[in-house]
Amino acid sequence: MTTALITGSTAGIGAAFARRLAADGHNLVLVARDTKRLREQATELHDRHGIEAEVLTADLATEDGIEAVAKRLDDRRDPVDLLINNAGFGNKGHFLEVPMADELTMLKVHCEAVLRLTSAAVEGMRDRGRGGVVNVASVAAFVPRGTYGASKAWVVQFTQGVAKDLAGSGVRLMALCPGFVRTEFHERAGMGTDNIPKWMWLDADKLVAGALSDLARGKSLSIPDPRYKAMMGVVKVVPRGLLGGITSRTGRKYGPQ
Ligand SMILES: NC(=O)c1ccc[n+]([C@@H]2O[C@H](COP(=O)([O-])OP(=O)(O)OC[C@H]3O[C@@H](n4cnc5c(N)ncnc54)[C@H](OP(=O)(O)O)[C@@H]3O)[C@@H](O)[C@H]2O)c1
Repeated sequence: MTTALITGSTAGIGAAFARRLAADGHNLVLVARDTKRLREQATELHDRHGIEAEVLTADLATEDGIEAVAKRLDDRRDPVDLLINNAGFGNKGHFLEVPMADELTMLKVHCEAVLRLTSAAVEGMRDRGRGGVVNVASVAAFVPRGTYGASKAWVVQFTQGVAKDLAGSGVRLMALCPGFVRTEFHERAGMGTDNIPKWMWLDADKLVAGALSDLARGKSLSIPDPRYKAMMGVVKVVPRGLLGGITSRTGRKYGPQ
């Protein structure tokens, strides 16, 4: 049995990773801020799949939270074989409407936590000669889309860079780039979703199945859906100015501040 640690395990894409990995027989370390929800999730996954599910309450926007998760990843007596850096959120509003403190919190959770947790996990993995890291980015990494898109572009570049640095070590790293997925993300960020066409929505369980199959094939970048794969091909040839006009608006309709 191997162990996977998932940040942001209690909802959306993280919960889909937890369901799938538990069904495949992996023990889990579940990380989020809401302890009650984590405990309920751990009990349900243990009862349904007979796996061990450990609860680790941590706010990845804080030093203490990042330290606590890094310490667990660094535990050589109880190693983590697969790290899913998934916790993330959207801020409500365009640039200058979002308080600077919230922009900085986004960089802490999306970039600094991902950097430090990846580092804490891969050292032991490299020594053991095996392991995997999935860093959840977004297709927003490839288009102009405020601080959110910029933070996810960092995740893609960082992950693919480290994947190259560790090539041949037995450790695989992959950036996962979902399109729009039905989760709690948009409601939490106060985003309206009625301007997002139905065909653009992805199912979290299918997304995770595609991601894990890409990881098994050794890909360092995963865009598991053919519609988004095709769109990201087009994005490469569309002028940035025109692209930004579309992508900075789509799915960024906010309720009252
Ligand atoms: N949904 C989409 O359309 C979409 C598209 C592309 C990429 N993504 C990316 O996918 C990832 C997961 O998003 P989702 O859609 O599944 O969101 P979600 O349904 O809102 O779930 C977010 C999860 O992250 C946890 N979390 C949030 N802030 C945290 C913090 N500071 N510390 C620790 N845990 C935290 C939440 O639990 P607690 O509140 O209890 O902490 C929850 O478990 C994110 O990185 C997001 O950027 C989403």
